[in-house]
Amino acid sequence: MLFKQKKKKEIDMHNLPRHIGVIMDGNGRWAKKRGLPRSAGHSAGAEALKKIVTEANDLGVKYITVYAFSTENWKRPKEEVDYLMNLLLNYLKNAEQTLSGENVVIRAIGSRAEFSEEIREQIVKTEEFTKNNTGIVMNIALNYGGREEIATAARRIAEMTLDGKIKPEDIDDKLIGENLYTASQPDVDLLIRTSGEQRLSNFMLWQVSYAEMWFTDKLWPDFKPSDLCDAIIDFQNRGRRFGGV
Ligand code: FPP
Repeated sequence: MLFKQKKKKEIDMHNLPRHIGVIMDGNGRWAKKRGLPRSAGHSAGAEALKKIVTEANDLGVKYITVYAFSTENWKRPKEEVDYLMNLLLNYLKNAEQTLSGENVVIRAIGSRAEFSEEIREQIVKTEEFTKNNTGIVMNIALNYGGREEIATAARRIAEMTLDGKIKPEDIDDKLIGENLYTASQPDVDLLIRTSGEQRLSNFMLWQVSYAEMWFTDKLWPDFKPSDLCDAIIDFQNRGRRFGGV
């Protein structure tokens, strides 16, 4: 706890990233290193996630989006997909109590139609249960893909245009932003990816336009609240110019 306090003191509470995006990578490698099945890595990853969200909330960060299941993850072996679905279901059930106790608002972003009815119902239930909380908003990206999100927004805007509600010249970046899953939320300020990979992997393509990126070789289950503090401290030491000078 002592090192955590020390790190926390280094954080400028008036310059926190408003929105943190996290690509939680390396669960499989974490398990392999220990001679465990990949599923054990995902379970450990889910535990790490709870601690990170709690820490971000304690610090006063307002939004966090975590990449839990991409539109491409269906290509994994059925056994692994089934495990992840079960883990997700339990995570949502559990989070309703534990993370709600931490005042977290839980939301799912991504296309829901492909999930089982049980999962879809649980998502609605967890969102409903936590919606009046006043702490951090946690978006769990599920069957999420950045291109799919932008394409869905484009389709909606095309329909509004056809219905005569807007004109083509009304289409600007604000309108597109308002039709994304993250409508009304600030852009991502800080993007974290674990496990040494330095790619976006179709994550929040629109929202990370001006994000600072922070990479670590640590595998996701090893990522600790003190690592989150390191990322935030590093973020605060960068000069963000947003295209200006
Ligand atoms: C990437 O590691 C991780 C995932 C595809 C799933 C992320 C899921 C969790 C952190 C746990 C569950 C979260 C919830 C909300 C239930 P990988 O499997 O690609 O690892 P590898 O690159 O080492 O194989």
